[in-house]
Amino acid sequence: MTTAKPIDVRDRLIVGLDLPSVEAAEAMIARLGDSVTFYKIGYQLAYAGGLPLIRKLADAGKKVFADLKLHDIDNTVARGVESIASSGATFLTVHAYPQTMRAAVDGRGGSALKILAVTVLTSFNDADLQEAGYRLGVSDLVQARAGQAKAIGVDGLVCSGEEAARLRRIVGAQLALVTPGIRPAGSASGDQKRVMTPTQAIAAGADYLVVARPVVAAADPKAAAEAIVAEIAQALG
Ligand code: C5P
Repeated sequence: MTTAKPIDVRDRLIVGLDLPSVEAAEAMIARLGDSVTFYKIGYQLAYAGGLPLIRKLADAGKKVFADLKLHDIDNTVARGVESIASSGATFLTVHAYPQTMRAAVDGRGGSALKILAVTVLTSFNDADLQEAGYRLGVSDLVQARAGQAKAIGVDGLVCSGEEAARLRRIVGAQLALVTPGIRPAGSASGDQKRVMTPTQAIAAGADYLVVARPVVAAADPKAAAEAIVAEIAQALG
């Protein structure tokens, strides 16, 4: 089941600006032009002076996913979220601890910012969770946190394509599912272990696809982005 929310097809592709400098990011944004409307800024670019790009991109009419995966005491999270909301970002990630999610929803207030929760990092397996002191395995913890995210009023979840169908059943249609690990047929998987094509991810219930290397490392990034948007449009029917 896909959600009933009307999302512009081009906005469903979120291009990860996983680049080492603001200059490299700005050159890529210029190269991509109108082919991309939604960008993701993560640790690498944010900590290399990239945070002001959120405002700059928003002022240029683009949407920005601030992938900052916040987790701290309530007050710090809520005030941080307020600052990010005022920068014009559209999506912000937080770790899916109930206290952190409640603080983020509080900080978001009535702003246009949407809070996305990261349930369990995909680099964790059951043994990693046990080593970190958790009682639940990955599958049960993802399920528990997805239910908590919905109850708390979080706007969406970051999840793998494999998790998307199951999470859609848990959270229903109103939460956005944002899915990385996307590889158009024929492209290199890199360090992603479980990948899906755009068609498969949309069929699994993903609303937004996060793609970095298959676009930013392509010989022709604009053509790569256009091809993914066309594939998403076709998958949506
Ligand atoms: O280059 P690639 O398309 O694999 O990049 C995917 C992007 O999504 C990266 O910015 C990565 O940090 C992010 N991401 C991910 N897997 C997750 C969460 C985020 O690949 N589980």
